[in-house]
This record gives sequence, C-alpha cells and structure tokens, in this order.
Amino acid sequence: MPTSFDKISPTASLVTYARQFSDIPYAMEISELVKAQSVVEQYATNGVEELKYFAPVMEARYKALNWILATFDCRQIVELASGLLPRGMVMSEDPAITFVESDLPLMIEQKRAVVDRLVENRANLHFAAIDVTANPSQFPVNADYLRRGEPIAIACEGLLQYLTLHEKQQVFANVRQMLQPYGGVWITPDLTTKQRRSQLRNYHPAMERILQAIAQNTGRSTLDNSFENLEHMQQFVADQGFQLQSFAFTELLDQLSSLKRLGISPNSIKPLLAGTSIFALTLS
Ligand SMILES: C[S@@+](CC[C@H](N)C(=O)[O-])C[C@H]1O[C@@H](n2cnc3c(N)ncnc32)[C@H](O)[C@@H]1O
Repeated sequence: MPTSFDKISPTASLVTYARQFSDIPYAMEISELVKAQSVVEQYATNGVEELKYFAPVMEARYKALNWILATFDCRQIVELASGLLPRGMVMSEDPAITFVESDLPLMIEQKRAVVDRLVENRANLHFAAIDVTANPSQFPVNADYLRRGEPIAIACEGLLQYLTLHEKQQVFANVRQMLQPYGGVWITPDLTTKQRRSQLRNYHPAMERILQAIAQNTGRSTLDNSFENLEHMQQFVADQGFQLQSFAFTELLDQLSSLKRLGISPNSIKPLLAGTSIFALTLS
C-alpha cells in the first residue's frame, strides 16, 4: 500500500537528472531511460536550467560517499534509499563485492528494471524492498547472501533530511541492529542543520525555488526536519549509540566534472559545498 513516503520517490528523478551533467558512470543512460527531464519540468517551472547549481552538489555527494566507502574497504554494502543511483551497478562489477540495493517497493522495482536494461544479471547484486523507518526492521539482517563475521558498509544519500526526528530515530535503531552482528560503518551525508539548509536556500534564487518545489511536492520540509545546530546533531547521534566522523565536501572540488560542463567556476561553488560534510558513523 502506498505511504506518504512514496511522495518522496520522484525526487530520485530530480537528482538523477542533475547527475547527468557529471562523468558518473551510467548517469546519462539512467536519466534518459526514466525520462528524468519530464519530472524535473514539474519541479523547475522556470526551466530545467534551474537545476544548474544542484548538479555539482549532487556529483560531490555521490563522489564523497564513494571516497569514504573506499576508505573503509568493506566487501558487503547495503544501500538504503538507492533510488536510481548507479553505485550498485558500478561496484558489483567486482565479484568480490556483495551489493544490496534497497528502496520502497515501487521504487526498487523500477530500479531493478533499469538495471536489467543496462547490465547483465549479476549474482552479487541484490534488490530488497526496505522502508528504512519500519518497526520491526526490514533490513536484511539474516539474508543468506550476507557473510556473518565480515563488516558491512551501509550507504545512504538523500533521504534522512526528509524524515522527522522520530523517523530518524527509528532508522538509527534499525542501522544499529544491522551493524551489531556484522560490524562496519554507516556512511551518509544526510545529517544537516537548519543553518546549512538556509545557506543552500540563500545561495541562489534558483536553489530556493527548487527546494520549495521539493517541499511542496513531497509534503516534507527539509528545513523543519533539520537539526537545530551542530550540538543538537552530535547529541542526537551520541544518544542513538553512534560515534561520528566527518569529512568536508570541499575536498572533492577538483573532481567535479559538472563544473566545466555547466560553466560554473570552482570558486563560485565553494560556498555551496563549504559546510556540507559526509559522515561515517560507527557503533559506540
Ligand atoms: C532524493 S531521493 C534519493 C535517491 C538516491 N539515494 C539518490 O541519491 O539518487 C530519495 C529516495 O528515498 C526513497 N525513500 C523515501 N522514503 C523512504 C523510506 N521510508 N524507506 C526507504 N526509502 C525511502 C525514495 O523512494 C527515493 O528513492
């Protein structure tokens, strides 16, 4: 049965469209397959160029998560809210890696169909319908394709900012329950403060319009759902039994291929990336 979370799913096409201006593998193919531009047109009523500044941020987000994933070097990866991300297709090229893509039931079926169009069937690439906020948890804790005793990396980009504090709390509990028997790390850029969301809005009127359209279409305000400040965020994470390490997005500045394609200077995008981080959370 559809839930209020399904209203978030079309935003997966929005970020997919933004990634097509980058050199991320499969980004263009996926965007064309799902006709992402037609979804973008509903959000960016002033024209799709409105997404111009969104593109490097989404590219940085994808590459930042890959960077930290590589640092932890886990061979089992469970991705939450995969949407239309190509990470599963890219990483499962290595047969030593077990990759699980997950999302809400409708979205994960759409994703499976997209993957089927682009790559051959792979025994090490799995698809699971998971509502991350479900209680009891729907995480694949006992899945036979996962190896006990080997650490897991849980990846999640672009979801937590939509969730209320209460919903986030349940996600943290579910991740904790998954990491307990395996060990490993949860990597996400999705922890954000009200100050940071305001910085994004104030960067450019186009950015503000897109964020407003997202709030209207999803029925969820990423500003209201943000942490009050850094202390609030750190306390919340500690209260859920996690330790937090953070790494700045600006480290990725020289890897952002979309800047050149869209004619954006690295200096002008710096303020948008500054203050955004990718986090590695481990059990305390
Ligand atoms: C902004 S999109 C991000 C998708 C993808 N991670 C990316 O970066 O392209 C948000 C995603 O969260 C998924 N989602 C929304 N609510 C969810 C929930 N309760 N559990 C799991 N996934 C959810 C949506 O279906 C959608 O794919």
